[in-house]
Order: sequence, then structure tokens, then C-alpha cells
Amino acid sequence: MKEQLMKIKEKALEALLLAKDLSEIESVKNQYLSKKGEISLLMGELRNLDPSERPAFGQMVNQLKVEVEQALYDKKSILEEEALLASLKNEKIDVTLPGVKLYEGSIHPLNQVIEDVEDFFIGLGYEVAEGPELENDHYNFEMMNLDKDHPARAMQDTFYTDETHLLRTHTSPVQARTMLAKKGQPLRIICPGKVYRRDDDDPTHSHQFMQIEGLVIDHHIQFANLKDVLLKMAQHLFGKERMIRLRPSYFPFTEPSVEVDVSYVKKDGSIGYIEVLGAGQVHPNVLKMGGYDPHEFQGFAFGIGVERIAILKYAIDDIRHFYQNDLRFLDQFKGVNR
Ligand code: PHE
Repeated sequence: MKEQLMKIKEKALEALLLAKDLSEIESVKNQYLSKKGEISLLMGELRNLDPSERPAFGQMVNQLKVEVEQALYDKKSILEEEALLASLKNEKIDVTLPGVKLYEGSIHPLNQVIEDVEDFFIGLGYEVAEGPELENDHYNFEMMNLDKDHPARAMQDTFYTDETHLLRTHTSPVQARTMLAKKGQPLRIICPGKVYRRDDDDPTHSHQFMQIEGLVIDHHIQFANLKDVLLKMAQHLFGKERMIRLRPSYFPFTEPSVEVDVSYVKKDGSIGYIEVLGAGQVHPNVLKMGGYDPHEFQGFAFGIGVERIAILKYAIDDIRHFYQNDLRFLDQFKGVNR
């Protein structure tokens, strides 16, 4: 009996010694230690032994089992470590090699200006409203108090796709749409977006550009409220020391209307003013068409040219830079507002 045990032990240990990988170890385990493995079967032999011999035999089989298990565990650890070392060797990386530089994009300067203005107005409780670029004549002109034969249409010639559809000339149609949607409720919105006009492109003109228009309608709105918001916006965009100047102007959709200039310090130290936007109190006809009773409601509106703000803020010499996707230009605006 004892000899049989010794034999099994020798066989098992030799098989482990020769095992070259984990799967061979697994088959040794199956052969000797599984339920029907050779060592387990030995236990079955107990029945055939004289009862007085059973305890000693049982102990020997257990001992054998522990030894084979230990040998198996040791060999397995060795193989695992070898495998790890081999893979470390193969996968060795040279951390001193230069990395691959990934090109990092950035937010377009015009969108940076829009986001900045949005942040400012959201802080004042305004909502951001958007609308389609391909508009209906009705929203773009008629609801803005520009009848079919209104002479001021000449200043806003654009691209027509048919008799009634055109690329919007300002974001005012979004104001018209929002007024109708609010059904006579007070509102406070800004409308950023792309607009179009028939123009020959040059350093200061572009047939497409961006606008942000604002509209507030409520009870007891006065011109002073408009002036206050415009001053705060100018100071937010250009700095606390800035002042604004209003000059009388004309827009069909506002009455009275103004052009708004922002102060700057000239080279000789004196104060100059530069035009940045148009504004005014909402014309009673516009309120009426939008579903508001002009005897109960008043409003103000303003329209900012986004390129104009960016040009002044970043001293840009040609409006066409914004639309040519030249990375040498765009890369300069990485993280400007972040
Ligand atoms: N819609 C005007 C434009 O594009 C801008 C503006 C808006 C002026 C609101 C006054 C009030 O020229």
C-alpha cells in the first residue's frame, strides 16, 4: 500500500516538474486531485482495509494530498511569475520617447462672445430663444413693422428662396415668434444667431454675420431700464470703466430708437466713442402684432453685432477672418474666455 502511495507521489511530482504551462498543471490537478483523481480514489480503498489499519492509511493519503497540492501551488506560482516577466519584457515601453501631440480644438471666437453675452443675460433672468435661419417674410419683416413696400427693406436686402422665404436679415423674427408663443405674458429673451444680407464681402462687410438681439416686454418698462441694461452689458464686455452714449436713430420696429456707442481711450488720452449696437422702445404696432396691448405693456429691444464686439475686444482687422477657418487665426482664441 505504502509503495503504491509513493509511486503516485513520484508520478505526480514528476508530472508537475515537467509541466510547461498552466494548462498542463490543470491536467495534473485533474488526474490526481479531482473527485475521480487517483488520490481521491485511494480513499475509497479504506473500505477494503482491516479497521485497525484504516486510520494510519487515511493519514498517509491525506499527507500525500497536501504534498501534491503544495507542489502544484508552487509550480503554478513559478509559471505565473515567468509569464508575467515575459510579458513585461515584451511590453516594455520607453517613457522617454516623445508623445504624439493631439490637436486640441477650441471654441470659435464668435461663439465665445455669444456664450459670454448669454451668461450675462441669463444672470439677469433672460431666456435664450432661437429660431430658423430660413424665414418667412411675415416674421422677418411684416411683424417687425416693415410692410412689403417699406423703404427700410432696401437696407436689408437678402437671399430669397421663393416669394415668401428668405435667409433672415436679423434675429428679430425670433422675437416675433416668441411674442406669439408667450401669448401676452411678460417676457425677457435674448436671441443669438446667424443672419444674412446681400453684401459684397470686404474687411468690414460680410454677407453672413452673427447677431444677438434682446427683447423685454412687461408692465412699467421705461427707457431708463434699457439704458441701465446696455451700460451694464458694455461694462461686462469691455470693462467697468466704460461709459455709453446714445444717439437718436431710426428703426421701423422701435420708437424712440437709438444707436449706442461705447467709450474708449484714444491714443492721445482723450475719450472717444465707437458704435456697437442699435436699440429702442418696442413700437406699439410690433406689440400689437405680437399679441400685446400697447396701453398695458411696454418693451425695449436691442441688437448687437457679434463680429463687431469680437473685433473691438480682440483688435481684429478683417471680418472675413471669422469665416475662413484658418487655424493660425483660430488658435489665438484658445481658452481666451475660460
Ligand atoms: N434688428 C436690428 C438690425 O438688425 C437691430 C435692432 C434690434 C435694433 C432691436 C433696434 C432694436 O439692424
